[in-house]
Amino acid sequence: MKTSCSGGTQIKFARNIPVKFTRFLLAASLVAAISLSFASEDAPPEHKKWMKDLGSAMGQIRKGVEVEKNAAQMAAIMPEVTAFWAKRTSDVAAKSCTDSENGAKQAAAAAKAGDAAGVTAGMKLVGAGCKACHDVHREKISDTEYKIK
Ligand code: HEC
Repeated sequence: MKTSCSGGTQIKFARNIPVKFTRFLLAASLVAAISLSFASEDAPPEHKKWMKDLGSAMGQIRKGVEVEKNAAQMAAIMPEVTAFWAKRTSDVAAKSCTDSENGAKQAAAAAKAGDAAGVTAGMKLVGAGCKACHDVHREKISDTEYKIK
């Protein structure tokens, strides 16, 4: 009886260490995950350029200026944005890139065919992609400065 009691204590002691250690690791990784998700960083120059070019193409299309050319240019830029974000394992970013690229291709094809409703539908998908990513991954620092988060 006495032996089994002390044996029990020993087992309990031995079990407690890993449990506490696991909790510690869990807490530590949670802290790391939280600080990671709040850390923002400067966008590399190429990212800023893609965004600027996407923004100006979008502005031109809204005004009805060279719609086919601008939509095709957006479709050509998106794979670069996709590749950049693929390294960051964000489902939101991946989906938003796919939407923007597909929408731009759709809009370019519709513009070529003279299908105004098709252009509108394509650009709606493009815009949904831009917005979804910006909502989650773009941090406004000032009226002129944005970062990646
Ligand atoms: C996968 C994420 C992602 C997608 C998709 C995306 N953006 Fe961005 N965009 C960002 C981030 C992050 C920033 C801030 C960093 C920077 O400026 O590079 C930004 C910044 C910008 C900026 C400069 C800052 C501002 O808002 O004035 C413009 C313009 C812009 N994006 C336009 C677009 C347009 C138009 C689209 C869709 C065709 C688009 N973006 C799609 C992530 C994205």
